[in-house]
Amino acid sequence: MGIDCTVPSKTAPQQRGATLWFTGLSGAGKSTIAMDLEKELASRGYLIRILDGDHVRTGLNKNLGFSAQDRAENIRRISEVAKLFADTGFICIVSVISPYRADRAAARTVHEKGEIPFLEVYLSTPIAVCEQRDPKGLYKKARAGEIKNFTGIDDPYEAPESPDINLDTGVLPLEECSRALIAALEQQGVIGL
Ligand code: ADX
Repeated sequence: MGIDCTVPSKTAPQQRGATLWFTGLSGAGKSTIAMDLEKELASRGYLIRILDGDHVRTGLNKNLGFSAQDRAENIRRISEVAKLFADTGFICIVSVISPYRADRAAARTVHEKGEIPFLEVYLSTPIAVCEQRDPKGLYKKARAGEIKNFTGIDDPYEAPESPDINLDTGVLPLEECSRALIAALEQQGVIGL
């Protein structure tokens, strides 16, 4: 019996590797949109990889804290990993606060040097909404002084000046956010080829 080399009946759609970089406060909706978008794109057969700050910090970046220097290193490593995935043809969705403009600019440069599409997606949900949601109870702890250097409370967040996409999940429903991102990917020639 030889090896069965029949062509799979369902061929995967064509895609171009790219990175979607989600930046915004804790509770702004980054992970929720990332997962919804992943589900939507995966159901259409596209290859996706999510890199989420909370997850990456349990492994690759578990030696890093939340000083400006450690956040810069967190973003540097994640941008290099994102580039590797995107270079292999994945649509890489990065979901990290990434509060400093310079760090995000460096992530863009890493991609541009490799001629890989990079879209900065600003989750501009106001802090009042994020704090009201407080999904992990961290704002409450930060207000009580139990957590120091918490972004938006006693640590800075430098909002993007010209993001490629701006989504306020305080007013936009989840499906509309995903729809806007899919439209942007089509417009950039990443999917729908
Ligand atoms: S980043 O600033 O370096 O981009 P990253 O997105 O990886 O941050 O991690 C943020 C997550 O770490 C938050 O969603 C929250 O769960 C947790 N966290 C713990 N301490 C802090 C803090 N001081 N500031 C922000 N997030 C924190």
